[in-house]
Amino acid sequence: MKILIVGSGGREHAIAWKTAQSPKAEKIYCAPGNAGIEEYAECVPIGPMEFEKLASFAKEKEIDLTVVGMDDPLVGGIVDVFEKEGLRIFGPRKCAAVLEGSKAFSKDLMKKYGIPTAAYENFDDPEKALAYLEKADFPIVLKADGLALGKGVLICNTLAEARDGVKSIMMDKQFGNAGNRMVIEEFMTGREVSVLSFVDGKTIRCMTSAQDHKRALDGDQGLNTGGMGTFSPSPFYTEEVDAFCRNYIYQPTVDAMAAEGREFKGVIFFGLMLTEKGPRVLEYNARFGDPEAQVVLPRMKNDIVEVFEACIDGTLDKMELEFEDNAAVCVVLASGGYPVAYEKGHVIHGLEQFENREGCFVFHAGTKRTEAGIVTNGGRVLGVTATGADLKTARANAYEAVKLVNFEKAYCRSDIGKAIDEA
Ligand code: AMP
Ligand code: GLY
Repeated sequence: MKILIVGSGGREHAIAWKTAQSPKAEKIYCAPGNAGIEEYAECVPIGPMEFEKLASFAKEKEIDLTVVGMDDPLVGGIVDVFEKEGLRIFGPRKCAAVLEGSKAFSKDLMKKYGIPTAAYENFDDPEKALAYLEKADFPIVLKADGLALGKGVLICNTLAEARDGVKSIMMDKQFGNAGNRMVIEEFMTGREVSVLSFVDGKTIRCMTSAQDHKRALDGDQGLNTGGMGTFSPSPFYTEEVDAFCRNYIYQPTVDAMAAEGREFKGVIFFGLMLTEKGPRVLEYNARFGDPEAQVVLPRMKNDIVEVFEACIDGTLDKMELEFEDNAAVCVVLASGGYPVAYEKGHVIHGLEQFENREGCFVFHAGTKRTEAGIVTNGGRVLGVTATGADLKTARANAYEAVKLVNFEKAYCRSDIGKAIDEA
């Protein structure tokens, strides 16, 4: 098969790496890709939002399967464009990707179908939001409705902070049109877990659990980022939690989408909080997590191309997912200043040390090949992943591996997986 992957981050590198292991994959392309993905795929300079160009490319190269890693093209309707052209593509249609594309939609869906989540109200008028805050309890959580690179969530400790938050989201449009509507929700406490799943419209098959670290600095300080590191599995995701989520969250979400006429095919990523009252949905994403994919996919035993096809064909009920009985930790190496202003173009040293290093992967997130060598080309630059027999070993291996690579102004968190010690 000829396969096209859409995206250019560490997640897409992990997807390309896993896809390349499938005996079904004869040729892989990636649009636009990065310097690491080049090892498995021919990278083509077409942007992820250039749907018509991508579809023309897929026709010209007789692509058998397209896999979309990123949220923007999914929410923008890339799947509908490809399907109209008779092209096979893995991911939700626009009407289903709204599960991630609109937090107000997803909250209303959960309320309607009794799926456990934080209490909330939706607002499209900032004056009404401000009036609501006068009677609210604090801390409180403000969320821009639309896509905001994982940064559209504000946790406000006081009324003054929350008023400023409403102003920046809805009036100053800090996150652009994503802030035309807003969700205000109850603040919850507990451990966070990410569970990614494959869905074929009716059947859902969950992957192994993972935990992300969203803040930029150690001790969960600093600004929210796309994710600074992950580990898998989460020791807090017990069988009991899993059973609860299967009964009250996973299948009910898939059934709710089908009942709404928004049949979901692709990956549903459940962002969960394990509260004292039980698991609650923090958010849904309509794609693999980044950097969750970098720890989950290296542990997956299945041929991923077969899974993609089962999702498209509606035959996932005939398949079980299998994962290694090990653990994985990913430490993101970012450019100094990320997630605000950062430099690009610094040469990355030490990448060759990862060749043939058993159980160690360097997934490229923001890199580019130049005459000077491979250089930094984004905020998150590399995701260094290592596996191990258990979480502690995997973490030690990942931090050992991080020392092998360097570039000017590189930084990473030193406490990825610290929660493992509390398990
Ligand atoms: P989201 O993009 O909705 O997952 O939110 C980003 C992060 O904000 C989450 O990973 C949580 O750490 C935090 N967060 C979101 N919603 C809540 C909530 N209701 N209570 C506490 N923290 C939250
Ligand atoms: N790591 C969180 C996300 O992909 O949204």
